[in-house]
Amino acid sequence: MAFPPQFLDELRARVPLSSVVGRRVKLTRKGREHQGLCPFHNEKTPSFTVNEDKGFYHCFGCGAHGDAIGFEMRTGHLSFTEAVERLAAEAGLDVPKASPEERVREQRRASLHDAMEAACAFFEKQLRSPSGRDGFAYLKGRGLTDETIARFRLGWAPDSREALKSALMSRECPESLLAEAGLLKKPDGGGPAFDYFRGRVMFPITDRRGRVVAFGARTLGDNPPKYLNSPETPLFHKGTTLYGLAHAREPARERGCVVVVEGYMDVIALHQAGFAHAVAPLGTAVTEQQIEELWRLAPEPILCLDGDKAGQRAMARALDRAFPILKPGLSLRFATLPAPEDPDSLIKAKGPAAMQAVLDAAQPLVEVAWRLAVEGRPLDTPERRAALEKDLLEKAHSVADETVKWQYARTFKDRLWQAFRPPRPAAGPAFAPQAGKGGARPGRRPPVGQTALRGFDGRIVGLGAPGAMRPPFEMQERVLLGLLLANPALFDSVHEELGRCLFSNDSLDNLRRGILKHLGAVRGLDAEGLAAHLRTDGFSPVLETLLDASERRMRSVRGYDGIEEARALWEDVYHHYTRKDLLADVSEANARLALDASQAAWTRFEAVKRHEQAAGGRDEE
Ligand code: UTP
Ligand code: MN
Repeated sequence: MAFPPQFLDELRARVPLSSVVGRRVKLTRKGREHQGLCPFHNEKTPSFTVNEDKGFYHCFGCGAHGDAIGFEMRTGHLSFTEAVERLAAEAGLDVPKASPEERVREQRRASLHDAMEAACAFFEKQLRSPSGRDGFAYLKGRGLTDETIARFRLGWAPDSREALKSALMSRECPESLLAEAGLLKKPDGGGPAFDYFRGRVMFPITDRRGRVVAFGARTLGDNPPKYLNSPETPLFHKGTTLYGLAHAREPARERGCVVVVEGYMDVIALHQAGFAHAVAPLGTAVTEQQIEELWRLAPEPILCLDGDKAGQRAMARALDRAFPILKPGLSLRFATLPAPEDPDSLIKAKGPAAMQAVLDAAQPLVEVAWRLAVEGRPLDTPERRAALEKDLLEKAHSVADETVKWQYARTFKDRLWQAFRPPRPAAGPAFAPQAGKGGARPGRRPPVGQTALRGFDGRIVGLGAPGAMRPPFEMQERVLLGLLLANPALFDSVHEELGRCLFSNDSLDNLRRGILKHLGAVRGLDAEGLAAHLRTDGFSPVLETLLDASERRMRSVRGYDGIEEARALWEDVYHHYTRKDLLADVSEANARLALDASQAAWTRFEAVKRHEQAAGGRDEE
């Protein structure tokens, strides 16, 4: 139901956010805020803050943000109404019925629920009576156990125009109510209403809480439609309902995974085979609301689709729906069944292990988006490649969330680059020193009082106080952030790189996200302004040490040629930073070769060296 805004304000005022959050997160007070480890992503240093005055929580690590109601919804996997009801009960507030009209509507809904429940019980009983013999035999023939039939409350609608009507219709349950529930149908030309479902096996469809809101009804023969579904009613909106959700909720949360299949029988067969975390949409492609619902259970629902053309189309549609609403940490995965199987038939033919293998092979959304864009498309001319690039970037830009948008744009550009760059000639002798482009840049001397940090090949990768004993990668991370803090104008040319990397040091990585957020939101923010924002965000300690260091660094750098020098230094450091793993590989292989000059060690060294050179050449091509 819709709650009046005054009530929600009152509720938010009455329940202290820190105590709602404090039940699940250990909070420590920091000035006017509370801090703790974010419950929505894995972290070791706290970037999750609760601002009691403003009434919201915010995580600088993953971007989670909301108020007390939102926190309850997300951690308790509750709907808005459920969260409000729970908090109101705690605060001793009566949940208001907004108006007399709404009260009438609520009563009507309650009556509709009663009617649906009565119908479900009626169909269940029929399945076990002589009239349901064929239906029961059919379900058994499809391998369902008595237990499964009972758990999913499967039933039988007798082949009669008034079996249900005469069993259910009463003073409390008039014809009009049964018609509104979609159980009776009024003939177009007038006359008495008759049973909507006749001679079919009944699959009750429930809401999230397990209340029956609709039915899917399967014919035993070939007379179409194969499945006849309830019409839309005040209780049932097929775009927001998921078949099997009430059963799948707990198992999905326990496993941190939810599987979406196409059919009712698939959900039931999966459940019976031990995959209790399966649901299905109602014969349509998944909708945005269904995706949001799935995200309450698990961050990366697996859409399990048929291997045929229709399955591919469903995949493309799901992609279109999902892209605009992607959030940091929330995505989809796609599993494809071997044609012509569906989950039900696959389990029957090859057993649960085959099904598990299909799920294990699920691909992330980004892979599928790339594949669908590239597949069957000639890319042999610049124009055709440009068209592909345009399509992919359009896809990336359809994401509303800024961080995810950047990541997609970056990833697609990277992939295009990898896919189309000219093949490089094989590397020369493995031990020949690489001079030239990759060699040391002459003429840059470290300013007085600072030490040049040099990369493996002797180039300056950063500047530090003498004797700084941080691991080199962390030093590079500090330099990248420090330069940007002192020169926010760098942002325009480096934000994509910055958005793409994931720093090894947690608190630096949080700061990285903080900087991205603020500079992304306010273009032209200067160093002062940026620092002020970041301090409000609680980054003070790490910020001060970085500013201090980069102040010194920048004083000397500005003495040369200002922003351009800063940019060159940033790019230099970044270049080395991203090559860190490859370089580490090379030196490891080198060390091994020194110990044991076997053919295998030699081959490995050559391979990693070639790989490293190929990657290193990228930025210079
Ligand atoms: P399928 O035709 O794949 O059905 O439709 P299925 O689940 O494998 O059914 P069985 O195994 O033949 O019994 C997939 C889903 O599409 C919807 C239903 O939700 C069905 O489960 N559907 C299908 C309809 O709503 N109406 C139809 O006529 C057919
Ligand atoms: Mn099937």
